[in-house]
Parts: sequence; C-alpha cells; structure tokens
Amino acid sequence: MRLDYLTIFPEYLDALRLSLPGKAVDKGLLELHVHDLRTWTHDRHRTVDDTPYGGGAGMVLKPEPFGEALDELAVDGATVVVPTPAGRPFTQPLARELATRERLVFLCGRYEGIDQRVLDHVATRAELVEVSLGDYVLNGGEVAALAMTEAVVRLLPGFMGNAASLVEESHESGLLEHPVYTKPAAWRGHEVPPVLMSGNHGAIAAWRHDRALARTAERRPDLLPATAVASEWVVEPAV
Ligand code: ADE
Repeated sequence: MRLDYLTIFPEYLDALRLSLPGKAVDKGLLELHVHDLRTWTHDRHRTVDDTPYGGGAGMVLKPEPFGEALDELAVDGATVVVPTPAGRPFTQPLARELATRERLVFLCGRYEGIDQRVLDHVATRAELVEVSLGDYVLNGGEVAALAMTEAVVRLLPGFMGNAASLVEESHESGLLEHPVYTKPAAWRGHEVPPVLMSGNHGAIAAWRHDRALARTAERRPDLLPATAVASEWVVEPAV
C-alpha cells in the first residue's frame, strides 16, 4: 500500500516513522510520502490560504496548490481521504474498507477548511472519502490522518504478528473488548477473576463474551443490535 499526505505541517507526520507504520515500511508492506503543500505555491510568501467568499471568520485553503500537487502526484484512481468534522464517521468497518485500497492520499485541511472545488475536482478523478474522527473539532486534519493511518495499517495482511489479537479486540466483533489481566494473580488487593486461571477454555470464552456484552451495554448501548434482549447480559462486574 502507498500512502501520501498533503499538509502545510509535514513535521506533524514525523510520528508515522515511529511505531507501527514505521515497522510496516521496514517490512516492505508500506510506502509513505509526506508532501509540503507549499511546494506548489509560486509567490514570495508561499501563500496557501485566503479569506472566504461571502465573508466570515477564518481562512480557507486555496485550490491552486492542491490542484498542482494532485497533478504531480498523479492521484487518478487513488482513494483520496479528506479528514473533516463534516465527514462520515471513521469506524472499524471503514478502516477495513480503506485497508483494501492500493493507494490512499490524505489531504490535510487547516483553518476553516479546503476550497470545495478541490473536493469536487478530486471526485472526478479519484475515489473521494471525507471522514470525521468524531464529533469534535481539531485544528487540522493531520492528527486525524495519523489516527486513520494507524487503524488502517495494522489491518494490512502480514502486518500484525498475531492475527488472532486483531479479531479479539474492541469493535472487531461489534462489541467492546472484555477486560484483560496478566500476572501477578493478586495486586494491591485486586484479584484476577478465578475463571481466567481455571484452564477451562469454554468457561473462559463464556466469561469474556459476557464481560464484553456487559461493558458494551453499560458504555456503548448504541452498538448493541436493537433486537438484543437485555436479559442476555449482566451489568454488574463479575468477580
Ligand atoms: N479536522 C478537524 N476536526 C476533525 C475531526 N473531528 N475529524 C477529522 N478531521 C478533522
């Protein structure tokens, strides 16, 4: 998979070289290219923004630098991801979908956003996906692009050492993940639930499923199917 990022703060994306995406580059699973949008400006001040037509606060990112960058990067046929609070919510199913693409190009906005014509133009030559990380406003798209990259890259075949851990974690099953424990068996007066040390795999699987359901019912009831019967799960923490 090839990932490109267009941003006016390329240093923000230095973190891509660390941790998981960095390892995927080392394994040859991933190519990362970070581009400074100002490369495609031609004035002394390397201007990327201007005041909004119609008035109002803030600045809007100009279309021309994006246009030249998209031409030079030959984005035709790629999937262009635009992080914006006005986008469709980023979820695990969307991460799985994006992980199937050959090439993702992230356009990181700042200020009040990107001139709409950039997005209209992109949609004529690439698959355009406007994506929101959640119902809150960040200062720009870089942090959102980093978060989406991590969620997508860890799904690439051959990337995770232990594929089973991908299946077990929160959201993959549609439920929040059950609590986890490691040694020691007792710590500061808190005990590991005895069932986990019983060696009874059926009982352990049942306990984990029950805890995942209870946690989801308590914290994220919106994730449970409307048809689920409330009596199926126990909300009190099991010992
Ligand atoms: N840019 C600014 N806020 C954002 C958000 N909530 N999600 C994605 N991109 C953003």
